[in-house]
Amino acid sequence: MISETCIAPVNIAVIKYWGKRDEELILPINSSLSMTLSTDQMCAKTTAAASATFKENRMWLNGEEVPFEGNPRMQKCLDALKRLAEAEKSKRFPLEWKLHICSENNFPTAAGLASSAAGYACLVYTLANLYGVEKSELSSIARQGSGSACRSIYGGFVEWVAGIKNDGSDSIAIQVQPALHWPEMRVLILVVNDSRKKTSSTNGMLNSVNTSDLIKHRANVCVPQRILQIKEAIARKDFKTFGEITMRDSNQFHAICLDTYPPCAYMNDTSHAIVNFIHQYNETRGDVKVAYTFDAGPNACLYLLEEEVANVLSLLNKVFPNDNSENSEYVKGIPIDLQKV
Ligand code: PMV
Repeated sequence: MISETCIAPVNIAVIKYWGKRDEELILPINSSLSMTLSTDQMCAKTTAAASATFKENRMWLNGEEVPFEGNPRMQKCLDALKRLAEAEKSKRFPLEWKLHICSENNFPTAAGLASSAAGYACLVYTLANLYGVEKSELSSIARQGSGSACRSIYGGFVEWVAGIKNDGSDSIAIQVQPALHWPEMRVLILVVNDSRKKTSSTNGMLNSVNTSDLIKHRANVCVPQRILQIKEAIARKDFKTFGEITMRDSNQFHAICLDTYPPCAYMNDTSHAIVNFIHQYNETRGDVKVAYTFDAGPNACLYLLEEEVANVLSLLNKVFPNDNSENSEYVKGIPIDLQKV
């Protein structure tokens, strides 16, 4: 038997990916940009083993067996990696050997906390190590598991370039700034609700593309401008601009969810109370000091600099005593790359 174990970090988008132009290849209608978080508090860990004695491919997620052969996305990632192994004449073990894969997230799965991003990035990275293949194509393979997973292949600030080609060969993630470019940056994750989301991002996106008018304006006009502006803000470490663009983009993404017919509402009353709290906080401080962003769920991700963390946390504990004390997690936003363990 031969096995490998890897861990992969989550990434939290500041310019959101929402909507596909190709469902099969998972090609987005707009580029997106995220920061990859350090792995100690929020990560996926995957062990993959191959053996001549395994009768079939099997997979366990958080201790429970999940269908492998019946999961087309998983199958697509595995097939792509096996093709790479074949092309590179990798000789670690015969390609017909079956696999057993164990994956765990140390944070709520499918609650809008980027679990699929870390999960698929980890799966692809672990299998690439197992088969002993080159790492250059991993972002496009991870993309075919879950779109946002392609960004978790790199540390730091990462752009997923939408691309224009039909075969998806130019729809890849690239690192915009390395992990230590902005070492003072932090993220606070406030877990408002850790149950599974009602509308999966796959279904939500499909409905938005089919029914929202606003989504076209966002993809064609707003996002291209914002990507340029936020990349400049990151390069000059301009938190005010970074924060404002982040909040505007989150708000517009959720406006599209409401412009979808029937609408999908991912944020709840607590999420909106957090939005108000942050705007009040920034007003009191006379500048943008904290920025919120919400994925396809009610949980808040707050971007802020280290110098602001203690103050914001103590106020959050006062304003949201029950929601905050047990569940919220403080995740250090100093990113690192994927690791073999
Ligand atoms: O990768 P998916 O299919 O889980 O989509 C994720 C979409 C958002 O999290 C809402 C935004 C993003 O860019 O991560």
